[in-house]
Amino acid sequence: MPHTLAVIAGDGIGPEVVGEALKVLDAVEAVHHPGVAVEQLPWGAEHYLKTGITIPPEEMQRLGRDVSAILVGALGDSRVPDNVHARDILLGMRFQLDLYVNERPARLFDDRLTPLKGKTVRDFDLMVFRENTEGLYVSVGGAFKVGTPDEITIAEELNTRKGVERIIRHAFAWARAHGKTRVTMADKANAIAAHGLWRRVFEEVGSEYTDIKRDTRYIDAMAMDLVRTPEAFQVIVTGNLFGDILSDLASILVGGLGIAPSANRHPGKVTMYEPVHGSAPPLVGKDIANPMAAILSLAMMLEGVGEAASGAAVEQAVRAAITAGVGTPDIGGTLGTRAVGDWIAKHVREA
Ligand code: NAD
Ligand code: IPM
Ligand code: MN
Repeated sequence: MPHTLAVIAGDGIGPEVVGEALKVLDAVEAVHHPGVAVEQLPWGAEHYLKTGITIPPEEMQRLGRDVSAILVGALGDSRVPDNVHARDILLGMRFQLDLYVNERPARLFDDRLTPLKGKTVRDFDLMVFRENTEGLYVSVGGAFKVGTPDEITIAEELNTRKGVERIIRHAFAWARAHGKTRVTMADKANAIAAHGLWRRVFEEVGSEYTDIKRDTRYIDAMAMDLVRTPEAFQVIVTGNLFGDILSDLASILVGGLGIAPSANRHPGKVTMYEPVHGSAPPLVGKDIANPMAAILSLAMMLEGVGEAASGAAVEQAVRAAITAGVGTPDIGGTLGTRAVGDWIAKHVREA
C-alpha cells in the first residue's frame, strides 16, 4: 500500500461522518485502486476521559513523520469543559506539525443551496486561507485572581513577520497556480495597530504578483461584503480567528457546514484534512449529520497524496448526489447520514 491514512474520528458526529467517508474510500479503492491503508486512532474525548491522555507527544511526532495524511472527524465534548483534549489534539497537530495553511474552499454546487436571493453558482468561487499557527490561538497569556471580582485574563495575539508572510505568499502563489485574478486580505488594522504588519506584508508580497489584483478589507466590512457581493471575492487571506469566523460564514453561503471540507497544510509536510464543522452534539446518534464535508475532505486528501483521479471521482459523486437532490435535512434532503454515504459510494462504484 503506497499511502497510509491516519484517521482520528474523534467526538460527537465525528465517527458517524468519518464512517461514511471510509465507506466511500472502500468504493474508490475497488474502482481506482489508490492504495490507501487506513489506521484508526483513538484520540478524542472518550479516550481522554478514560485514560487522562489527550495525545502522547511521541504519537504527534509519528504523525508528522510516518503517515501520508491525516483525516479528522471532529473534536469537542461537553464532558471536557475546557476543551483541553481538542486543544492538544486538533490545535496540537496544527501547531506542532506547523500546518500553517488552513485551506477552506467554499464552492456552490447547486443554485438552490445558497440562502442569498438571486445568486447562482457563478457568484461563488471562494477560497479562504486562514493562518493556522499564530494569532489569538497561541495561548500566550494567563489568568490572575480567578474566580474573584478582580479576575484578570490576558490572551495575547501573536503575529510574526515569518508567519504573516508565509500565509500571504501561499495565498498569492495558490491564486496564480489556479488562474485566479484577485486576492483579498481581511484584518483590523484600524483598531489593532499590530495588524499594520499584515497590511505591509500584503503590499510587499502582493506587488511581486503583478498579474493578481489585491485589495484589503477591515474584517467587519469583509463579513458584510461577503454576504452582499460574494462574487467580488476569489481568494481571501486572513489571520487565525478571523479565518475561523469567515470560513463558517463562507460555508453557509454555499450550503453550510455539512458540506464544507478543509485541509491543514505545510507544503512538503503531512497534511491534515477535516470537515470545517464540529462535533454537533444535538445531531449525535440520530443518523442526520451530513457526511459530505467529511467525504469532500477525503476527496481533498486523495488529490493531496497524488491520487487525483480518485479524488475527482469522489468529488464528482458528491456533486451528482447534490444535483439529484440526495442529501441530509441540512441541505434540504430527506435521507440519513448512512443512506447518503451509501448513495455516494454506489455512485463511485458505478460511475
Ligand atoms: P458545530 O460545527 O458542531 O455545529 C454548528 C451548527 O452546524 C449546528 O447547528 C450543527 O447542528 C450544524 N452542523 C455541524 N455539522 C453538521 C453536519 N455534518 N451536518 C449537519 N449539520 C451540521 O459547532 P458548535 O456547535 O459550535 O460546536 C460543537 C462542538 O464542536 C464544540 O465542542 C466545539 O468546540 C467543537 N468544534 C470542533 C471543530 C473541529 O473539530 N474542527 C470545529 C468546530 C467546533
Ligand atoms: C475549527 C474549530 C476550531 C478552531 C476549534 C474547535 C478550536 O472551530 O476548526 O474551525 O477554532 O480552529
Ligand atoms: Mn471553526
